[in-house]
Formats: sequence, C-alpha cells, structure tokens
Amino acid sequence: MTFPALRWLHTFLRVAVTLCLSAILAPPASAQTAGRSTKDRVYSAAQAAEGRDLYDGRCKNCHTAISHTGPPFRANWDKRPLSDLWDYILEKMPKDAPGTLEEDEYAKVLAYILRMNGMPAGTEALPADKKLLRAIRIDAPVPKPSQQQ
Ligand code: HEC
Repeated sequence: MTFPALRWLHTFLRVAVTLCLSAILAPPASAQTAGRSTKDRVYSAAQAAEGRDLYDGRCKNCHTAISHTGPPFRANWDKRPLSDLWDYILEKMPKDAPGTLEEDEYAKVLAYILRMNGMPAGTEALPADKKLLRAIRIDAPVPKPSQQQ
C-alpha cells in the first residue's frame, strides 16, 4: 500500500464496509417500525364507536364521510405518517373552533376516520401520542371502480 490511490481505496472500502455493517446491525428507528401501517389493527372498535359520537357532534355539520374516504382521502393522506393527519385535525379542526377537543377525543375521531376507510379494528386503542403515530403509515385502500368519481 504505497500508492496514495491504493491507500485511498483501502480507506474508502473500510468506510463502505463499516457503513453497510452499521446499517444492517443498527437500523434507524424508522426502519424498525417501517412495516406498520393503518391496516395493522391500530385502533380498537370501542374507540372508533366513541369517535363516531364525537364526529357526529363536532364534525358532521361540515363534513360528510365522502371528504374523508375514497379518492380524496387517498390523494391527501396515502403513505404519509398517521401523525400528519393527527396534526392536521388537532391544529385545524373543528374549523370553527380548532383545538377544542381533548387529545384522547382527537384519537377517537381519528380511529373513526380509519374505520370509515375500512381499516380493521384491533384490541388496542390508537394512542394520543404523536411520536407513536409517526411510526404508523397511512395505507389508504384503493377505491373500488364504483367509488372513483
Ligand atoms: C365549521 C366547519 C368544520 C367543522 C366543524 C369541521 N371541519 Fe374539517 N374541514 C372543514 C373545511 C372547510 C375543510 C377544508 C380545508 C379547509 O378549508 O381548511 C376541512 C378539512 C378537513 C380535513 C382534511 C380533508 C380530508 O378529509 O382529508 C380533515 C381530516 C378534517 N377536516 C377533519 C375534521 C374533524 C375530525 C372534525 C371534527 C373534530 C372537523 N373536521 C370539523 C370544515 C370543518
């Protein structure tokens, strides 16, 4: 290893190998949860039922299910972290009185929006916790042809 070019190559390879190894051995936090999506039973049925009551009382006067499901929902939210939708409703909704629900009430409404979109319910409630919601990807169902317009 007397030529500078060879030495450089040697260093380059060492760095490359180290980087590959650390990527394999210690995946970043996001990669550990990368597989989790809204199709993985991330809310409970009871929570969504309570969310429905809240939605009927606080959201329905301006919204129909159509604005939160099918193609519009897909266009706005598909593949984004669930924390984006959480932030949106927490900061902006109800539009006439933003931020007026408790955080656990927002989690219930969010669970109901997931149910409206045909996401399956599980046994654990959706947490009112932005960090945990960030690890869940919105996986919006592909609309059926009859829903497409
Ligand atoms: C006073 C009317 C009003 C109320 C009440 C209201 N919204 Fe909205 N919402 C709107 C309007 C209008 C928009 C369109 C974006 C904008 O103008 O800010 C919107 C947009 C949204 C969106 C983004 C569009 C989408 O569906 O992807 C979500 C999600 C949403 N609202 C959820 C809620 C929830 C949940 C509640 C109840 C907690 C609620 N809204 C209550 C008027 C309202």
